[in-house]
Amino acid sequence: MPLTILKLGGSVLTEKTGAPTPEPEAINRCAREIASFHPSADNQLILIHGAGSFGHPQARKHNSPEGFTNFGMIEIHRSVKSLNDLVIKALIENDIPAAPVHPFSYMIAEDARIVDMQTAQIKMMLERGMVPVLHGDVVMDRTTGASIISGDQLVAYLAARLRAARAGLGTAVDGVFADGTVIPVITSENFDAVRHHLRESDGVDVTSGMLGKVLELIRIDIDSYIFNASKENMIARFLAGEELGTRVTKTMEKGK
Ligand code: IPE
Repeated sequence: MPLTILKLGGSVLTEKTGAPTPEPEAINRCAREIASFHPSADNQLILIHGAGSFGHPQARKHNSPEGFTNFGMIEIHRSVKSLNDLVIKALIENDIPAAPVHPFSYMIAEDARIVDMQTAQIKMMLERGMVPVLHGDVVMDRTTGASIISGDQLVAYLAARLRAARAGLGTAVDGVFADGTVIPVITSENFDAVRHHLRESDGVDVTSGMLGKVLELIRIDIDSYIFNASKENMIARFLAGEELGTRVTKTMEKGK
């Protein structure tokens, strides 16, 4: 302990549109910055990554009113898993004991919300100083058969369940914008006033967009930050405890 949860968006790690295309230099830079944090049993870290071009186009292709087919689900999962392999490889090359954890294999959703997730393995990994690496994924869903769970939803769920000290969503933009400037803090008190500035999904992104991110983070009590992980050194600074981008939290009082 304490536990930090960091999500790296698919647009940071991949070319977000078109065929699955990783950005190897960006993946390596992220891994180097994470290594500077020296995750350990006393300084715990869960890493979650998005899907980018390894998940959104596949999810769109297979989405239909009847839901996902079995082969569709398998194709989506195998594609995001292959991005997970690349991320894990880069982390291990930077001496981080990164362990793949695939939501598809051990999580159940209802209406695209997580309702059942094993966390005992993750806790045991953290106690040994490993870094569990999860990702947005397709999962079995009691209501719809199968649904897409975003990395953002995983961050909020795990942060609440495992009582994380801090959470961060590393995106390709500087934070949540209003009229060209970054909003420093969003809480349930000012959310209604800023809501109209937040864009929904941009058509490529099957899960969230900025509104979805804020809606995930505002429901949990801890301080979370939406910041630019595409810019050099921002991940290292977030992990070192700096305030970056937009802070999102349930209440105005800091640290509550
Ligand atoms: C999406 O996860 C998962 C799939 C489409 C399979 P995210 O919503 O967290 O991915 P990014 O960060 O937007 O790419």
